[in-house]
Amino acid sequence: MIDAFSSISYSNIALIGFMGSGKTRVGKVLAQSTGWTFLDLDALIVEKTNCSIPEIFSRYGEGYFRELETETLREKSSLHQTVLSTGGGLPGREENWKILERSYLTVYLKCTFNVCYKRIFGDRNRPLLAQFPDRQSLLALYQKRIPYYERSRVIIDTAHRTPNAIAREIVLRARTADSSQG
Ligand code: S3P
Repeated sequence: MIDAFSSISYSNIALIGFMGSGKTRVGKVLAQSTGWTFLDLDALIVEKTNCSIPEIFSRYGEGYFRELETETLREKSSLHQTVLSTGGGLPGREENWKILERSYLTVYLKCTFNVCYKRIFGDRNRPLLAQFPDRQSLLALYQKRIPYYERSRVIIDTAHRTPNAIAREIVLRARTADSSQG
């Protein structure tokens, strides 16, 4: 158990990044090693609506899903010692940043497009892949989102690193981010 988190004044950590960047895997390891609670925003939405993410997209459309994302993020903003894995499209909304910046240390898991693509290719649980069916269009979405992800307070390069190593770096960087808050 890493007890370094006891000296951090942030109540929560939000993991940010493209689909397949490892937010859920790293989030679970980070929560396990620190004793914080792990939450996955998509899983919370599924639980709340009793509908899978592809079902929400196909029945009600992406706009409705985005509303649900914001609503669920807001509901979880008063928690304590939580590691939250967010959906890859969440940082595209200004409203979400207001909540993120108020309640979370935002950590962007930077991952190359090739690695993300290999991990998510053919995943039926990611309805956005139907909207961006070829590599080129998905790459354009990835590039368009980078500036949103880069608003995060901490940016971690995940290339060639294990979830354990990434989790350890998050703890170290969170302490630095904390002391620079003043
Ligand atoms: C989305 C990413 C997904 C999920 C939904 C939309 C996106 O989450 O929220 O399918 O817009 O990039 P992951 O990033 O966990 O795959």
